[in-house]
Amino acid sequence: MNVDYQSHINASVEYIKSKISTQPTISVVLGSGLGDFGNQLIGKISIDTKNIPHYPISSVEGHAGKILFGKIRSGSGTSADLMVFQGRIHLYESNDNDIVVYPIEVAHRIGIKTIIVTNAAGGINPQLSPGDLMFIKDYINATFESPLIGRKTNETGRGRSPFSHELLLKAQSIALENNIPFKEGVYCWTKGPMYESAAEIRMMANFGADAVGMSTVPEVIVAANYGMEVLGISCVTNLATGLSSNKLNHAEVTEVANRVKHNFTRLLTEIVLHIG
Ligand code: HPA
Repeated sequence: MNVDYQSHINASVEYIKSKISTQPTISVVLGSGLGDFGNQLIGKISIDTKNIPHYPISSVEGHAGKILFGKIRSGSGTSADLMVFQGRIHLYESNDNDIVVYPIEVAHRIGIKTIIVTNAAGGINPQLSPGDLMFIKDYINATFESPLIGRKTNETGRGRSPFSHELLLKAQSIALENNIPFKEGVYCWTKGPMYESAAEIRMMANFGADAVGMSTVPEVIVAANYGMEVLGISCVTNLATGLSSNKLNHAEVTEVANRVKHNFTRLLTEIVLHIG
């Protein structure tokens, strides 16, 4: 990482710290169309990422570009302080993973120890339908890009899955207790912005992928390298290319994300309540 990158992160973090008085250790990254969870925070402080010095701007529809701080409340209690990213930056926006993981760098310096990273994904496994929530147990990196190049790595960060097995088991038992249906599977990361070809989807299925999308993997690799506990959740918004007669489009992705936001928000709420 070069000096400019470090000083940009420092400036971003300084700005954010000047707006908050809490010290959150749990963060949630909300994917395409899944920003609703953030609207329910109490004691909310909302920061427009375009006002944060050097913070990268997302150009994608459905990505609000806000960082929120606050707590979430449900019938079972109130959560710890949270840092919530409404929207993210994708590799296809810059072809630069340092920009993609900028929010993770910021989260690390704010003091985040546990991070829940969410996304919208296309279902490859025939067991998955639009609207399903899938815990990510592992990933395939179909970009073959490494987000750790140029970064200090440690043995732990390089030698283990970025996803925390303990957190996965805990999240699954929370979902069961709350009667929220879920699936579990392998997420395949592509560069985008084009959707996959039908032949690529057949290849990914053969390689063991259950769902496909254009995010999450670089963020979780860098988060785990910093020692964060990581949980990944995909919202299946469509069947992957070739698996249905519908032509894929971003409007369908956000429409389905909208439809599942109730269960998605409930699941996230119960998870942050019980890990905080
Ligand atoms: N492919 C890639 N990314 C996606 C998809 C998909 O089918 N659905 C939502 N994000």
